[in-house]
Amino acid sequence: MASDIYGNLYDYPQYYDILFGADWKEEFRFLIGCFERFAEQRVRRVFEPACGTGRLLVKLAQAGYRVSGNDLNEKAVAYCNARLRRKGFPASVRVGDMSDFQVARPVDAAFNLINTVRHLPTERAMESHLRCVHDALRPGGIYLLGLHLTPTQGTPIEDEAWTGRRGRVEVSSYMWSKELDRRKRNERLGIRFEIRTPTRTFSIEDEMNYRTYTAAQMDQLLDRVPGFEVIETYDFLYRFDEPIVVGPRTEDVVYVLRRQG
Ligand SMILES: C[S@@+](CC[C@H](N)C(=O)[O-])C[C@H]1O[C@@H](n2cnc3c(N)ncnc32)[C@H](O)[C@@H]1O
Repeated sequence: MASDIYGNLYDYPQYYDILFGADWKEEFRFLIGCFERFAEQRVRRVFEPACGTGRLLVKLAQAGYRVSGNDLNEKAVAYCNARLRRKGFPASVRVGDMSDFQVARPVDAAFNLINTVRHLPTERAMESHLRCVHDALRPGGIYLLGLHLTPTQGTPIEDEAWTGRRGRVEVSSYMWSKELDRRKRNERLGIRFEIRTPTRTFSIEDEMNYRTYTAAQMDQLLDRVPGFEVIETYDFLYRFDEPIVVGPRTEDVVYVLRRQG
């Protein structure tokens, strides 16, 4: 079926937020559990690089944390700041690049949960990202980094579909792998939103390039960038009492990184 719109999905924060905002509770509980368990000091200030609509930042602000973030997409930043303001918090999100940023005051924790770092196209950009996060954290602070690894054994998951609803608007999404080039370390992903409102049904389709990481490539990266220790690893079930061991078949993983003193 032909899509009505081909464009950048991140330019539609109102629909992105309905879809990705639907499952916030488990991620939220996981973040707080990790803050309490792994940070060496009480977590008060939290930063999210590439925060998009700030679906988790706003929940953390409501729970009493001082939140801030950045994102390349101006529309997502405007949406996020408008919501923070509406709920009585400062508009603390800036347009910025997650591989080249500084924070005004060091933070106790940072997080980036759903594959977003794979938008960074090169190893250099990823290393620079990790250095920026490292410098933004106080010593003993943690970075929760979630991404989908490319398994080197077994068959990778090739598509995913889910639906979110808010009021009378429903957004269904289908994401599929169009091409996986392990040598160039690029995965071309198709993603399509189907949007149903009381008066209209339409779709938006986009294509994204995600850099690929195997478990071994992540290990090498984390060895190369000094200043972090890997404290624990989890999968996207976000059960912080059930850590996982990352291996050649692992796909979804959240690394708990702690800034060394
Ligand atoms: C999958 S969304 C994730 C948003 C948010 N972290 C969340 O959990 O909902 C990816 C976001 O990364 C942003 N992005 C992509 N490349 C970026 C970069 N180099 N620096 C900052 N943001 C970037 C996009 O604009 C988009 O909002």
